[in-house]
Amino acid sequence: MLGKIIGSLSTGKTPCNPSIHIVDMCAGDGLGYGEKEWSSPGIIAKHVHSSFYGSNRIKLRTAHLFELEEQTFARLRARFGTVSQLTLENRDSKGWTLNNINVKPNDCVFIYADPNAITTLPVTEELIASFTPTTLFLMTLGCNVGGCKRLPREDRDQWMKTSIRVLDGAHRNHDILLIWLERDSSQWAYLSAVPRVWSADTLADSIKAGRKLWPSGVDGLSLRINGRNAIVEKFKDLFLTKTEIDQQPS
Ligand SMILES: C[S@@+](CC[C@H](N)C(=O)[O-])C[C@H]1O[C@@H](n2cnc3c(N)ncnc32)[C@H](O)[C@@H]1O
Repeated sequence: MLGKIIGSLSTGKTPCNPSIHIVDMCAGDGLGYGEKEWSSPGIIAKHVHSSFYGSNRIKLRTAHLFELEEQTFARLRARFGTVSQLTLENRDSKGWTLNNINVKPNDCVFIYADPNAITTLPVTEELIASFTPTTLFLMTLGCNVGGCKRLPREDRDQWMKTSIRVLDGAHRNHDILLIWLERDSSQWAYLSAVPRVWSADTLADSIKAGRKLWPSGVDGLSLRINGRNAIVEKFKDLFLTKTEIDQQPS
């Protein structure tokens, strides 16, 4: 997603200024994983400095990375502390909003939130309210290893409320996509805000790419294509137990 955003900024054919602020709210230690050795700090560092035809049109690329845990932060700093344009902060990103950085109207903003538990989710009402019309967003859901359903109902309700708030706060030029792994015990999923013109392609590409990595399949929904109710029903499936869904007033 970040590569596509940077690529489109270089064309000058977007509603944004040729400037991007990237915010990684849950950076981790930057250690790569998987075949391509991905980590969000690694991907961000790559895209902040990528050079390609037209990249000189992008006038500003900066990134803020937050990591809560001291030791994890020390490893993150050892890996990325000297990379220019990256600001690393050893603190809880909960409470942080876009008002904390100097974003000019129409600057592109990309926010990524990848907590490992609902309890540290930094996506607050205040953060969502600070989104500009050119803020794109990606959040992972259900990423705790033990499975989200084992957590107290209040925590899961809070996560669902936040997800619905993202859905209802969608700018008219954006779409909200919910993509999930089929038959995954921890019900891993992600929720993103993408430009409306990218939505059908992003949905199809994510499902196709996901199916290559996850043999049981990947599926998804779009706010603009499938409607709000379809996504809210899927949130219930992700966050509530079968008994809790059955007990809901119809
Ligand atoms: C799932 S890992 C992140 C992985 C990373 N995004 C990647 O792709 O390599 C979650 C990390 O975010 C940190 N974290 C979780 N909640 C946070 C918060 N509210 N503020 C800052 N860091 C947070 C955790 O300490 C942990 O290191």
